[in-house]
Amino acid sequence: MDIIIEGNKKKIIQNNLTVPGDKSLTHRAIILSSIAQGESRISNFLDGLDCRNTLLCMQALGVNINKESASLLKIKGKGLNGLKLSRDILDVGNSGTTIRLLSGLLCGQRFNSVLDGDASIRKRPMQRIIQPLSQMNARIKGLLNENFAPLNIIGKQPLRGIDYTLPVASAQVKSAILLAGLYAREATTVREMQITRDHTERMLKFMQADIQTSPGRKIRLMPGNELKGVEIDIPGDISSAAYFLAAGSARKGAEIIIKNVGTNPTRTGFLKVLQDMNADAKIFNQRVISNEPRADICIKGSSLQGIQVDREIIANIIDELPLVAVLATMARGRTIVRDARELRVKESDRIKAMVEGLSRMGANIIERDDGFEIMGPTTLSGNEVNSFNDHRIAMSLTVAASYAKGKTIIKDAQCMDISYPNFLPVFQKIIN
Ligand code: S3P
Repeated sequence: MDIIIEGNKKKIIQNNLTVPGDKSLTHRAIILSSIAQGESRISNFLDGLDCRNTLLCMQALGVNINKESASLLKIKGKGLNGLKLSRDILDVGNSGTTIRLLSGLLCGQRFNSVLDGDASIRKRPMQRIIQPLSQMNARIKGLLNENFAPLNIIGKQPLRGIDYTLPVASAQVKSAILLAGLYAREATTVREMQITRDHTERMLKFMQADIQTSPGRKIRLMPGNELKGVEIDIPGDISSAAYFLAAGSARKGAEIIIKNVGTNPTRTGFLKVLQDMNADAKIFNQRVISNEPRADICIKGSSLQGIQVDREIIANIIDELPLVAVLATMARGRTIVRDARELRVKESDRIKAMVEGLSRMGANIIERDDGFEIMGPTTLSGNEVNSFNDHRIAMSLTVAASYAKGKTIIKDAQCMDISYPNFLPVFQKIIN
């Protein structure tokens, strides 16, 4: 499905909204509740395609999961050793989080599994999980090509605990190791050189796993404890809120309040980038529910300025970097993003996708091997642009289109449903 966005229509916007539940947290809540003891209730879960695939995989592994209502899931946990062999290949669709987290989980089971996904998943690097999991004595390998999906897993218990320093800043890899660590004989330690999202650690702690995190960068998990079923309320996804923050930040007179957004410090880098760009972004009403911080966020339109994005913050804003590119076209001066090579191995090559899309709209953008440089401000002009079937590219280009003159056609925009079902009507109501 292609969509047409007409730019620059509404001049002043004042609005309150909430965004759907956090994607990373929904995946983890479904997986960890499935292997907990007792019932878990998960409210405000994200009912997007990626999380549905996690849900279907856990059902295929014998877990009883009920959608009690549009926003409430009830999961009867099977305990650490209660999952059953799936008779079918486990299909993760487009979801990198599902394939990597489930790999860690399934290596430690007493049965075998095959994980596969769509064309994008089959191109994404799996060596980063195969290598540490193999060190844990797991048996996991690509079926067609050693380091790519489909992945064949020969379940084995117990695994071996390791002390592992992450060579790539990836919460998915960290989480795969920790999930495998639940099935190890001894402690598993993961060390990070750059801090990545810590939802897995927080939720494991919330479910009473024996896990310690030292300030900074070391996580130690002792196996043995069964996880306990819990009530989890999932905050709105800050990565989804980011589209509205970006659309309001450079628009004169705009004021948007987004309520109940997750503000875990490993995810709020985009707010800092906005502030560094001179945006008027404020956080208020901060509280902690289900061991995750949340708050309301207010953005008002202002004049942005270009920045150099720090290396240290890249992992924190990895999913928002396409939006940083959009904002840089609105900002005065040069914006430089380096050390972001990881963007090339996401659902699409996000450096190439944004450089191509924004160039077609008239931006002054240069592609670098590990990022991009943008000179602003430019008046963007509507054009036909490609989403590369990547939800974050489709939504980031929608924001760019809202700032552009004329009509923008975004190809294959249905992929937005992966992380934000119903994004377009909500966005159009508020922004144009
Ligand atoms: C995610 C981690 C990030 C992020 C992805 C979700 C997670 O990936 O890009 O959208 O839920 O753990 P990496 O950990 O591979 O960087």
